Amino acid sequence: MTKAILLIGSNGQVGRDLSEILPRIGEVTAFDRERLDLTQPEEIRSAIRACRPAWIVNAAAYTAVDKAESEESLARAINAEAPRVMAEEAKAIGACLIHYSTDYVFDGTKTTPYVEDDPPNPQNVYGRTKLEGERAIRDSGAAHLIFRTAWVYATRGRNFLLTILRLATQREELRIVHDQLGAPTLSGEIARTTASVLAKISAGEPGAPSLAEVSGIYHMTAGGETSWHEFASTILEKAKAAPHPDWLASATGGLPIITRRVIPIATSEYPTPARRPAYSVLSNAKLNRVFSVQLPDWRTQLDSVCANPPA
Ligand SMILES: NC(=O)c1ccc[n+]([C@@H]2O[C@H](COP(=O)([O-])OP(=O)(O)OC[C@H]3O[C@@H](n4cnc5c(N)ncnc54)[C@H](OP(=O)(O)O)[C@@H]3O)[C@@H](O)[C@H]2O)c1
Repeated sequence: MTKAILLIGSNGQVGRDLSEILPRIGEVTAFDRERLDLTQPEEIRSAIRACRPAWIVNAAAYTAVDKAESEESLARAINAEAPRVMAEEAKAIGACLIHYSTDYVFDGTKTTPYVEDDPPNPQNVYGRTKLEGERAIRDSGAAHLIFRTAWVYATRGRNFLLTILRLATQREELRIVHDQLGAPTLSGEIARTTASVLAKISAGEPGAPSLAEVSGIYHMTAGGETSWHEFASTILEKAKAAPHPDWLASATGGLPIITRRVIPIATSEYPTPARRPAYSVLSNAKLNRVFSVQLPDWRTQLDSVCANPPA
């Protein structure tokens, strides 16, 4: 039987990709901010009660990490309060809440990939409010899957990939932080992996774990690790190699790339309002073990969007 899916945040990076892929596994009702404002708990309750979905997929969040330092209550309303309301409603109708969280729940002091049970210790308001959201969902008793991801980018929206391409048409030198490590993750891979997990659960094959058994937190990031500096350098290498896909030409506004040097700098040379973890690499072993799904390495993901599609 086709499952009803309520997608919240359909205009974000992950949300847009989900809105393309989720119709393959269910009947999707999608809400962007205009149709559903997450600062209004009653709007959330009414949307869920009207749709009565089997899956609630929340791709919306307050993601402006630096701005959150001065907008804590707004960040908390969207990242913690709204998911709490979604989880309460999910519990009431027996739905499962699929939610995304972040590597920024950790302090970055480890030197090996973080696993789901590592103690969180967020260093900024964004990370704290996202952790509060995770805990509210867990404490609600609703069935849930929380996918912690990191360094998300897409060929549209606001992200590091598009920022670097724009700056590369304006500056001969870029100075990029080299001492923060993570795994740049393409939004399309997050959407594809989410759909694949939901399809596996829906299939309910004999011997497959029940929703109650798989409920919990999973890390969902690209394989491998890199620094912002190496990521920027790799983006420019790919962008200089012709021919370009259409999105890349529009990201540079058709202008030539003039950056000659990408200079590694320390985090201390690039002060930001929000502190960021030095080490943000997450282990995907649990996701792989429970659902037999794996995201490609970050370089493969970047290659997949930079390669010119065959004519
Ligand atoms: N971006 C990253 O690097 C990153 C890293 C780790 C984890 N994550 C997590 O991954 C998930 C998806 O992130 P993303 O990169 O796709 O985020 P995104 O592109 O910033 O999209 C977030 C969406 O939330 C919507 N939103 C914000 N405030 C809202 C409100 N009051 N009511 C309704 N909708 C609202 C935004 O609406 P508008 O389109 O109208 O602005 C936007 O469409 C989030 O849970 C995020 O915390 C992201």
